[in-house]
Amino acid sequence: MLQDAPTACLRSPLDVVDLTFDWPTGQPALRHCNLRIPRAGLWMLVGSNGSGKSTLLRCIAGLLEPQAGRIDTVLRPALVFQNPDHQLLLPSCGSDLMIGLRGQMGLMHRQLAVHQALGQVGLLGFEQRPIHTLSGGQKQRLAIAGTLAAQADLLLLDEPTALLDPESQREVLHLIRRLCSGSDKPLTALWITHRLEELDLCDGAALMEAGRLGPWCSGASMRSQLAPLPEGQA
Ligand SMILES: Nc1ncnc2c1ncn2[C@@H]1O[C@H](COP(=O)(O)OP(=O)(O)OP(=O)(O)O)[C@@H](O)[C@H]1O
Ligand SMILES: [Mg+2]
Repeated sequence: MLQDAPTACLRSPLDVVDLTFDWPTGQPALRHCNLRIPRAGLWMLVGSNGSGKSTLLRCIAGLLEPQAGRIDTVLRPALVFQNPDHQLLLPSCGSDLMIGLRGQMGLMHRQLAVHQALGQVGLLGFEQRPIHTLSGGQKQRLAIAGTLAAQADLLLLDEPTALLDPESQREVLHLIRRLCSGSDKPLTALWITHRLEELDLCDGAALMEAGRLGPWCSGASMRSQLAPLPEGQA
């Protein structure tokens, strides 16, 4: 189990307490689910299909209302989906980011905010690029830029690399790793994956089983726990 004693006195970026969620069909998805993120960083969730990972992220994002339990966070959550086509709306990169900006800003400040968000994800100068001309990996990085432009600091990533080739997968993973590291306002990310090799870059990993999360452990330890699975998948 991970030791978080040095940070135990600090406020957790995200505390999920005893969450229960049943779908209207009666299908239970979360069962007294607890999750406490000890500090900013990259935290990964693994678990078999249907164990409740996506439902948990949707509850944290405020898209679903749990029947019981509570979610405490001072952070601003934003979801990143497996398929970026499901969240990119407008035709050009710049216009897509522009609509997600928060607060009242003059045009120059809006353009600067878009420019900065694109720079943070390695898409500097892409303001005018039509989204349909981007590769899958670039689209996913643009979706992440959208969360940054919206000033989110709790990124909820639901298998963000599942549709990407190995190089784009690495780029997106290392981008999030970078955004969640360092001393200057590191972000907090909760990342769902079935790809065991991604666990190597996390600050901690937890296993979801039948709507409940187990304790945090290191990525390496989670990887060795799950490695004997027949198809090598979490
Ligand atoms: N819209 C829905 N209506 C009814 N039941 C649903 C709905 N979405 C998910 N479920 C059910 O809720 C449970 C948890 O699903 P969820 O999608 O959260 O699992 P998951 O861990 O994300 O799985 P996967 O790894 O396949 O993405 C499953 O039993 C699933 O069938
Ligand atoms: Mg899912």
